This record gives sequence, C-alpha cells and structure tokens, in this order.
Amino acid sequence: MDAFTYRRGEMFAEDTALAGIAAQVGTPFYCYSSGALQQQYVALREAFGGRAHIAYAVKANANLSVVRTFGALGSGADVVSLGELKVALAAGIAPRKIVFSGVGKSRLEMAEALDAGIGQFNVESEAELVALDDVARGWGKVADVAIRINPDIDAESPTPKIKTGLRGDKFGILWPMARASYRAAAGLKGLRVVGVSVHIGSQITSTEPFRKVLHFIKDVVRDLRADGHRIERIDLGGGLGVRYIDEMPPTPQEYADVVLAETEGLGCEITIEPGRFLVANAGVLVTRVLYEKVAESSTVEPVRIVIVDAGMNDLVRPAMYDSRHAIVPVKADGGRHTKADIVGPICESSDRFAQDWPLPPTVPNDLLVIRSAGAYGSSMASTYNSRPLIAEVMVQGREFAVVRPRQTYESLLAGEALPPWLVGGPGVG
Ligand code: LLP
Repeated sequence: MDAFTYRRGEMFAEDTALAGIAAQVGTPFYCYSSGALQQQYVALREAFGGRAHIAYAVKANANLSVVRTFGALGSGADVVSLGELKVALAAGIAPRKIVFSGVGKSRLEMAEALDAGIGQFNVESEAELVALDDVARGWGKVADVAIRINPDIDAESPTPKIKTGLRGDKFGILWPMARASYRAAAGLKGLRVVGVSVHIGSQITSTEPFRKVLHFIKDVVRDLRADGHRIERIDLGGGLGVRYIDEMPPTPQEYADVVLAETEGLGCEITIEPGRFLVANAGVLVTRVLYEKVAESSTVEPVRIVIVDAGMNDLVRPAMYDSRHAIVPVKADGGRHTKADIVGPICESSDRFAQDWPLPPTVPNDLLVIRSAGAYGSSMASTYNSRPLIAEVMVQGREFAVVRPRQTYESLLAGEALPPWLVGGPGVG
C-alpha cells in the first residue's frame, strides 16, 4: 500500500489532502504517514517471524513522533550520539533495546549511555575499547560490547559516500586486527564482550552483499569462539534499500530469508538496524512553485527551470549524493509533461532536486511533492542561507498533526550572542 496516492485528481496522504495541510501549515513541509511507518515495521518484523531484534536507526529520521511510532510497536533503537539517545529515551524505547554505534563516542556520551542502561555498545577501535572500559569502571558498571568488524565487502550502494565496509574506510576494525582487539577487550574488567557487529553500507538493492557479509561473519564467530570468547549476538547493521524511482530492492522476506538462513544454527541473537527501509517511502516533502523560467543559451538547448520554495538545506540528498527522488504535482492532469530542472532558492548550483524531470506546466503557488523523502531528509536538514527548519506533519487517516512546528525567525537568532566589542556602536543603538 502506498500512503501517498491521487484521489479525484489530487494527492492525498492516507485520507488527508496534502493541499489542505499546505493551506494550514504553509510550505515547505515534511509529511509522514503513520500507517506507512507502521506497515514497514510490521512487514519487517513478520518477515523475521520474531527471530531478529529490530533497532531502528534513528539517524534516518529523528522526529520524536516517528521514533515513538516504532517504539510503540516494540522497536529498539540504534543511536550514534547522545542527542539520538535522548530522542530514543524520550520516545519511550526501553534502554536495554538501545544499541550505541559510531566511530567517535565521547566519554560523556559513554557515561550517559551507561547511566541510562543501554543494551550494547558497538565499538569501532581499540582506543575506544580502552576509553569505554575506563568510563564503565569509573561508574562501577560493565558495558556489553560488540566490536564492529570491517569485512572489506562492497555494499554496491549507488554512491561510494554511503559505503562503509571497505578496507580503508573509517568504520570498524579490519578482521585480522579485530581478532586481537577481542583478546584485548577480554582483559578489560569494565567490558563484557557479547558479540559481533557489522554495517557495510546503505541503499543496498540486492541480497548478495548481505549474504557475503553473513558468510564472512559466520567464520568470524567460529574463530572468536575458538579463541574462548562468548559470542552470543550478531548485529548486522542496516542497509536494506528502497525504491526511489525504478530500483528493485529485495523484499523484507527475501532479506530475512538470507539473514536467517546464513545465521541458522549459530546460536546467536540477531539484531538489525534498519533506517531507510522503515521511513523513506513513508514521507514526502511538499513544496510550492515560486517561479518558472527558461535558461537560454546559444550553445545548448534552452533549459526549463522550475524554482520551488524548498532548498538543499531542507533535503540535501540530491546535492550531496546525486540521489534521485520522484517529483510529482499535487494536482494531477496538469497537462503535457516536458522536462524541467527543479531547483531551490539556495545560492548554490547543486541546489537542484531533479534534472530533466518530466513535469506538467506550472504556475506560481502550484504544489509539488518530492517523494521518498522520509529518510535522511529532515534529519540532515540545516539552516543554510539562514532558512528556518521546516514544519513536519504526521497523518493518520483523516487526521493530521504538526509534529515539529516550523522554526521561527526569532528562534533562528535566539541562540546567538554578541561579543562586548560589538554591543552598541553604529547602527546597533
Ligand atoms: N546502522 C549503522 C551503524 C549505520 O551507520 C546506518 C547508516 C544504519 C544502521 C542505517 O542504515 P539504513 O538502513 O538507513 O541504510 N545519509 C545517507 C545514508 C547514510 C547512512 C549512514 N549509516 C543517505 O541519505 O543516503
């Protein structure tokens, strides 16, 4: 089921017209479908038949209501900062279901996570093992630890920027070295080594990379057990891809079948950390056309340019990864489609959501929908060009709620302070 469909010629989110939301909250705004979020979570849970823990990767969308929607279904959380830990706890996720990942946890973050009683730290270097041991002993605690292995396996993601499991990447510890790190960890009293973690990349659109990783991890588990470590858990990370335009990612069942088949008989608890799969297609970015113009040139064909009120600060993926998002008008039947570049108001040439994208003629104030924007949209937004963070809305059936109000211009400036030498003086009163 797609939560964003045309009814009587206009785009709805579940049973709520997007144009109606736009009239009330203004544009641009993110809109999430509560039903689609739940549907994705349940599909994954059912595919695994209860044989994997799901720890939602909060970085994909840290909106409290989104995280709480998953928490209410029993999800755990994968967090990579104290901020994300606080979001997960505020969303009501049980601390023992929280995994702390990331290459650069500070001692403050470690202490807060230990104090909260989280379930697992995924540690990415020997220096981090030493620091975590020190912090844990200082607090009279023992941290449950999985070491993140770098398996040197290609995730085959569409851009190298979102691959994380290759030799030389900053993530994890390359396997032969990691074996020694396990030995080192076993000697540290503040740590209890419980498992292995791995995450090779994102937007993975075939089961093959997962199969290769698990094959590799099976040998790792065997070797570590031979070394005398108690390996009870495997955390496979996230990475399951979604359809943006025409990709054909594995179904949840195909993914689960590979994971379960490859870990069969190992006697390990399995955790997965899906982000994108759970949220990408449950969210859209609604934006308004400001102007259309034609960029003339003597050497190339004129380019039709549609300028909208959302910018790369609101959704940075196309600028940052050349990623593609389908863009459609809120009102269908707008006439013959011709190719257009759809761009934002930011002063950067990379502030472009699509190039040569088919779109009917537009007039100012027409609404457009940038699809598949639920993952790494709002969570990567910034205030570049001093543009306030945009509103986020969640829909359930006919009901909608603003789950994050549009940032005000006052709050944009509120965090700033002038040094004494700039207070007063010309033009400042
Ligand atoms: N676990 C770990 C340790 C991760 O680093 C990530 C994502 C995930 C889980 C979730 O991966 P997912 O299921 O969402 O693929 N900003 C980029 C994606 C960066 C992903 C970073 N790590 C984008 O917009 O495509």
